[in-house]
Amino acid sequence: MVKAVVLGAAGGIGQPLALLLKTNPLITELGLFDIVNTPGVAADLSHIATPAKVEGYLPPDDGLAKTLKGADIVVIPAGVPRKPGMTRDDLFKINAGIVRDLATGIATTAPKAFVLVISNPVNSTVPIVAEVFKQHGTFDPKRLFGVTTLDVVRASTFVSEVINDLSKAPEIVVPVVGGHSGVTIVPILSQSSHPVLSLLDGDKLKALTDRIQFGGDEVVKAKDGTGSATLSMAYAGAEFATKVIKALAGEKGLIAPSYVHLDADKEGGAALKKEIGKDLDYFSTNIEIGPNGVERIIPLGKLTDYEKQLIAAAVPELETNIAKGATFQKAPP
Ligand code: NAD
Ligand code: LMR
Repeated sequence: MVKAVVLGAAGGIGQPLALLLKTNPLITELGLFDIVNTPGVAADLSHIATPAKVEGYLPPDDGLAKTLKGADIVVIPAGVPRKPGMTRDDLFKINAGIVRDLATGIATTAPKAFVLVISNPVNSTVPIVAEVFKQHGTFDPKRLFGVTTLDVVRASTFVSEVINDLSKAPEIVVPVVGGHSGVTIVPILSQSSHPVLSLLDGDKLKALTDRIQFGGDEVVKAKDGTGSATLSMAYAGAEFATKVIKALAGEKGLIAPSYVHLDADKEGGAALKKEIGKDLDYFSTNIEIGPNGVERIIPLGKLTDYEKQLIAAAVPELETNIAKGATFQKAPP
């Protein structure tokens, strides 16, 4: 019996994500919340012949609390997306308040739920959720995840394009670490399951790294003012949520990168901080997920000099992004 909830469920990500979750046979209840259109989205999805009972709520009459009641896993894609020329950090002004309010609802109604944050800027919105939970005395770092799966999905796809064999895309695994914006997105191509590094000279390696770091911009540009990645994000979000749900159900050995609080596994977190040379509170890295959430933070391991340079460039920006999120919640403007 698993209840999954999507907050921002009527949006560009929310709708296809809700569709994919509705098709997950492990989910028995699906709660949908948005400030618009959720009754319609829920009615539509409810006709699909899969086990999940679907309910959609709007803000009036305690809709958020009704949606969250009994939730095991809450995925948050609520908030505004980028337009061309914007950075993810430009979204902070609007999305920080949205995420804070939704996190308050979760901390109040479903404090034990696993929380998966998609809303940008992820590097800052995850610390906002953590601070809200701390203020409610319910923060468990093992249960909070920034969703960086789209970077990993992109890395698999782009590597398969480099080797000219898209059929290999589903099986190629490339760790992508750091955070989720521009230079904080660090692909570790030397650890790719397909030995792609040997095919890349310096320029080609830089081009592939840039494409993974700025893949989001490719979509924003192509959508030409109508939004950012939604379908690929829904796919990635459902993939990560499914891993979390499988772990809840007792499956072992589930590993995926996610942007987590490094106290989620104190030993692993300390080893990772040593590797990056900075006492950051949050970082995206491979984690092992278990029935209680983050079971293990897996250190980065052996890196090339180029990858070490990428990490060194990511750390100061991450530090700023983390402080921005944490400070917003401690002392909102
Ligand atoms: P969208 O505008 O299509 O949908 C957002 C939805 O959020 C809308 O339906 C809106 O009504 C809803 N919403 C706004 N305020 C709300 C509130 N207070 N409570 C509940 N719902 C609320 O946008 P989108 O394309 O779905 O993107 C959503 C967010 O996801 C953006 O911030 C975007 O940058 C981010 N995103 C993150 C990743 C990632 O990899 N983590 C990838 C793609 C997009
Ligand atoms: C992405 O990586 O596609 C998302 O973070 C959306 C964006 O703004 O690029």
